[in-house]
Amino acid sequence: MVEFEDKVKEVIEKTEIVCIGTCGKDGPHLVATWGDYIRTIGIQDTGTIVIPAGGYRKTEENLSTNDRVEVIIASKEVEGTNGMGKGFLFSGRGEIQESGEFAELAKSNFPWARGAFVISVEEINGLL
Ligand SMILES: Cc1cc2nc3c(=O)[nH]c(=O)nc-3n(C[C@H](O)[C@H](O)[C@H](O)COP(=O)(O)O)c2cc1C
Repeated sequence: MVEFEDKVKEVIEKTEIVCIGTCGKDGPHLVATWGDYIRTIGIQDTGTIVIPAGGYRKTEENLSTNDRVEVIIASKEVEGTNGMGKGFLFSGRGEIQESGEFAELAKSNFPWARGAFVISVEEINGLL
């Protein structure tokens, strides 16, 4: 379990999109969600990110053999080391949940969702 420190929270507040990478037998695979979706349901105290899952079928297939995920968030509106622009790389484990607390949270906020893409963040590295 990790803690989202203030600078991470600032970027979460401003990121427009969130990119999530998984790895399958045929190579890396990248998907996205909107920043405001994770601001609505996603950020849990426990270092968990909850994303509404409508698609993410290939992602789910990849997670069934390798649950490692990497996530990038970024914003030009947050000051980084060399001026405006800050990002973070989260590494962790992911799972698509179609029932349970997080799936219900996703479905009640996003009626098109079949469940939740739940990511447990294990490590955070600053970018920029
Ligand atoms: C900016 C952006 C936001 C997206 N948000 C979601 C989302 O919240 N949930 C979702 O299921 N797919 C979302 N998608 C589509 C996914 O990135 C992905 O292409 C789709 O779910 C198929 O996933 P798969 O290739 O793992 O099967 C989004 C795509 C973009 C470009």
